[in-house]
Amino acid sequence: MIELLAATDNSGFSPTIITLNTLVLLSRFLHLLSATLLVGGTLFYEMVVPIAIADLKSEQQLLIFARARWVFRRIVWLSTALIILTGTVSSLRNWSAYRHPQSMAQQYTQKAIDSYAHQTGQPSAAVSIKAEKIPLVRQPGLWWAAHSALGVIAVGLAIFLTLGRSPPSHPVSWMRINLVILMVVIFLASATRHVRRITVEPRVTPADAASILSASPAR
Ligand code: HEM
Repeated sequence: MIELLAATDNSGFSPTIITLNTLVLLSRFLHLLSATLLVGGTLFYEMVVPIAIADLKSEQQLLIFARARWVFRRIVWLSTALIILTGTVSSLRNWSAYRHPQSMAQQYTQKAIDSYAHQTGQPSAAVSIKAEKIPLVRQPGLWWAAHSALGVIAVGLAIFLTLGRSPPSHPVSWMRINLVILMVVIFLASATRHVRRITVEPRVTPADAASILSASPAR
């Protein structure tokens, strides 16, 4: 499965690759959509509902709060299921980048060199990236682990708040805490993507390619 999803990186046009690419794209879209629903739903329940019902009598407040919670529960359960499913697809898709960033960077650079050699009509050369230790902040796998672990905590807390017939004590404060956690999860998602791309897909300019080709024996 990992190999199959990772194969979507290769620029092929076979029906399998096109189908898999479409599924990966759809999965990414659904991950973003459900994250938006979860954050938006939490924000509405935590900020808008309490202000909207502030002037009502307490029985009316309880009734509206219970109804809002009923809707919120559906949003949380649906978005949690989608987030976990699509998060797993994205994790499998990028697994090699998280586990073996160095060899992925090597493959990426080799492709860029091959393509430059092809364009300029020269024989290509085998690239060898020095096996230097990647600093912790540039390890995409660590950012992935932080994003996924905190993501599981955030959806777990959201589910916990909607379980049972009545809300736990201080539901709005809990929502506020979860909103902050969700924001951090989103930050970690963008950091994961950024670090994965700068580490695994190093920029190879034509000048870089030319100097690598002139320094390496043709293969
Ligand atoms: C529950 C476990 C979760 C897993 C396993 C997971 C996994 C992933 C993975 C693998 C990526 C791609 C990162 C990359 O480009 O290298 C991602 C992106 C993202 N995740 Fe999650 N995630 C989870 C939960 C969440 C939650 C709760 C949120 C909502 C706050 C969220 C929001 C995002 C966003 C906004 C992106 C960026 C999407 C993109 O650029 O394609 N994730 N996630």
